[in-house]
Amino acid sequence: MYKGLINRYTDFLPVSENTPQLTLNEGNTPLLYLPTLSNEWGIELYVKLEGLNPTGSFKDRGMVMAVAKAKEEGSTAIICASTGNTSAAAAAYAARAGMKCIVIIPNGKIAYGKLAQAVMYGAHIISIDGNFDHALQMVRKISETEPITLVNSVNPYRIEGQKTAAFELCEQLEAAPDVLAIPVGNAGNITAYWKGFLEYNQAKGYSLPKMHGFQAEGAAPIVNNQKVENPETIATAIRIGNPASWKQAVNAINQSDGKIDSVSDDEILEAYKLIASKEGVFAEPGSCASIAGVYKHLQNGFIKRGSKVVAILTGNGLKDPDIAIQSNQIEPILLPNDQKIVSEHLQGVVTV
Ligand code: F0G
Repeated sequence: MYKGLINRYTDFLPVSENTPQLTLNEGNTPLLYLPTLSNEWGIELYVKLEGLNPTGSFKDRGMVMAVAKAKEEGSTAIICASTGNTSAAAAAYAARAGMKCIVIIPNGKIAYGKLAQAVMYGAHIISIDGNFDHALQMVRKISETEPITLVNSVNPYRIEGQKTAAFELCEQLEAAPDVLAIPVGNAGNITAYWKGFLEYNQAKGYSLPKMHGFQAEGAAPIVNNQKVENPETIATAIRIGNPASWKQAVNAINQSDGKIDSVSDDEILEAYKLIASKEGVFAEPGSCASIAGVYKHLQNGFIKRGSKVVAILTGNGLKDPDIAIQSNQIEPILLPNDQKIVSEHLQGVVTV
């Protein structure tokens, strides 16, 4: 039986016999081939469905490790800043471990599904009149003076847990891909994947992919090599102007001979709709920066036709139902409770 990441990758993780075997059965997510887009775009395109983790995002991988280590070290409370997914994961693993959880979020800028999760898992939620970068600054300060463990990705155990996605990917594909496309916000995940690929290259001889990271145009500090004071994007998950792992992300891109680039909100929304309507895959907008990025890099030649490409879909589409409804023309049509009228309506709509 699969028993979660700490159990599965013990040899590659900083665990001892004193580390609690904490798990919600995170990890082991599907790698799915996209036949329609592969065909249309002339590449071999796969997506890793990180939205199928227990709280619906990749954050569970890092959080299981960070919370287990906090518990091992005798901590009773954790704290994080979040654009939503980190807070959902932190709250869930704290509940599981019997610890307190405090989350600080930018007021009005987190998707409703994510807020619902933090509420349900029983976190203490503080909303500030500021953005993620302000919230992160705040929790870093608080954790210096209070007996509360910081579980943002500046906590090295988060990166350790998240690197396991690269291991899984190599095993599923029985090779490393040519290109890894990944959304970039606070830049912890791109850092973690690169660490994972390097470790599996050393330990098992897998090759190394080129790392292609994608930020939203209105929140693209690494691309423009300049902090963004007021980041703005529809993809609230990656609405970040001063990423904590900035240097590590640049390092991953340079070492792998990859690229960091930005995609517009329109391009993100187009990709968001495309993978849902053509492939049956529903991922949150922030995640779809990876797909939008693959398309852009095919146009400008940064990704070659025939390449084996894996795009990371970091979070579940159900996290943000508001965007799904707002960004589509499709709406339920209200008809009377009368089969004849419904059938008549369908005559003009469905041709079999
Ligand atoms: N995709 C999703 C769905 C995310 O929630 C995040 C980050 C990212 C991509 C970017 O990952 O920060 O490691 O570069 N969300 C954080 C949060 C900031 O608070 O949930 P990153």
